Amino acid sequence: MADPDPVVEAVFDAVAATAPTIRDALPGRRVESGAENPSGETVLAGDVYADELLLEALSAVEGVGSFVSEERPEAIDVGGAVGEDGEGAYAVAIDPLDGSSNLRSNNAMGTVVGIYDAPLPATGRDLVAAGYVLYGPITTMVVADGSGVREEVVEREDGSEGLGDGDDAGVTRSVVADDLALPDEPTVYGFGGRVPDWPDAFREYAREVEDELKLRYGGAMVGDVNQVVTYGGVFAYPALVDAPDGKLRLSFEANPIAHVIESMGGASSNGSGSILDVEPEGIHDRVPLYVGNEELVDRLEAALDEE
Ligand code: AHG
Ligand code: MN
Ligand code: MN
Repeated sequence: MADPDPVVEAVFDAVAATAPTIRDALPGRRVESGAENPSGETVLAGDVYADELLLEALSAVEGVGSFVSEERPEAIDVGGAVGEDGEGAYAVAIDPLDGSSNLRSNNAMGTVVGIYDAPLPATGRDLVAAGYVLYGPITTMVVADGSGVREEVVEREDGSEGLGDGDDAGVTRSVVADDLALPDEPTVYGFGGRVPDWPDAFREYAREVEDELKLRYGGAMVGDVNQVVTYGGVFAYPALVDAPDGKLRLSFEANPIAHVIESMGGASSNGSGSILDVEPEGIHDRVPLYVGNEELVDRLEAALDEE
């Protein structure tokens, strides 16, 4: 088991410390901000709030050199060049609020984190750690940092008002599982996009899976992926007929999730091979995302190969 990387630990300390504050801010930030993000999507007040809080928290982490966010067109230099040679600082890519359209419908959403030891755009092989916070009935954080995949429950310390300083920072974190692995027997599936927009080969695969597993699709990647993490199965936001790159962004959605799932013994794919091998051109590149039990991902790749 590798010694924990102090910068990685400090990044997840900072993300955990912001989680209760982001969660408490959501009720008052369900409205549109009037802005669009670099992917051309409507930005909610909750997206802006989470993005600004995480920039502030992560800029303060020694060893983080660059901050990339779904809500910002370019990487923000937060002190320290990101070393190609593995020295120097890390680049942290964030989806501050994943599934923010669930704010209006009061359904699960989360925050996604990828820590790269190369400047972005980078491949998932440059990830040194990745994870996500899930704002569900309880707040949890899943972390893949090279020493097994762990799940923590994150709570505000009784009576604490907000971001403290130091690594406790007003939250209590309890590890509820310290070596998560995908259940061998898959149980659930969740496929994004609209059925008429699915290419024929994916639709045929989906029909097979629908006969075998139970539908769990809530419209927020972190919530839907956490179903697969918990019960085994497959999550996809597939290539669509009119959007062959799908919807999800590689840097701060697909790569971190693929890193977590592959660290738990699962598989990821962009339709032809591991997500972690996709070579991006830009930090907002989209990619089809398929993750879950290896047998289900292998069947997906075979189905798309027959196209
Ligand atoms: P975000 O809110 O960060 O833009 O992410 C939304 C993504 C992802 O969370 C989810 O899997 C997908 O959008 C849902 O898309 P549909 O609304 O098309 O189902
Ligand atoms: Mn997202
Ligand atoms: Mn988002």
